[in-house]
Amino acid sequence: MSIYLDSASIAEATRAAELGFVAGITTNPKLLAREGRPPEAIIPDLCDALGWGLVFYQLNGPTLEEREDEARRMLALRPHRIGLKIPCTSENIGLLARLAAEGVVCAATAVFSSHQGYLACEAGARYLIPYVNRATRLLGDGLALVRELAEVCRATGGSTEVLAASLKSPQEAVEAVVAGAAHITAPLELILALGEHPLTRQALEAFASIP
Ligand code: G3P
Repeated sequence: MSIYLDSASIAEATRAAELGFVAGITTNPKLLAREGRPPEAIIPDLCDALGWGLVFYQLNGPTLEEREDEARRMLALRPHRIGLKIPCTSENIGLLARLAAEGVVCAATAVFSSHQGYLACEAGARYLIPYVNRATRLLGDGLALVRELAEVCRATGGSTEVLAASLKSPQEAVEAVVAGAAHITAPLELILALGEHPLTRQALEAFASIP
């Protein structure tokens, strides 16, 4: 069971390192674009800022050939510290299988159905990444998707696990774990919010006011 930071910010990665329990970092093209530097510069800096674990880079090239080149170029930046998020499409699944067979940690991302999850398991994905909140908004029940994917992982008997993304509240994060996500990824703000409750603060204030 691991919590990943969903961010491309070096400051947030540094804060995550201070927390000590954040297992790794997931990025995506949107998060990387916000930082205003090339991904080739940001990804190694994220590896260094956290100091351990995997930093996931999402393949984004326009053609399969370019995505394969992109994969090899990014992996070479920090051997054994970079994982790949590969959008789960029929074009990408063979690339995922090839990279996984070479020992690359691959996460099939943007998984919106159990059949995609099944194929990604068979192709050798280490993680299935469903966008939980987005699936709830667009399909009706993102937690049911997590449950189905966790069931597919169990049924296929390999080492694939669900890493839930697109979580928008502490409650949704916990519900994803209870539904079968072995891991979650969340923005720093949400990770910190998991440790908060207004009544805890209220209790602390009451203790502090004891003369
Ligand atoms: O990495 C992608 C995932 O976190 C998507 O989240 O909020 O765009 O649905 P969202």
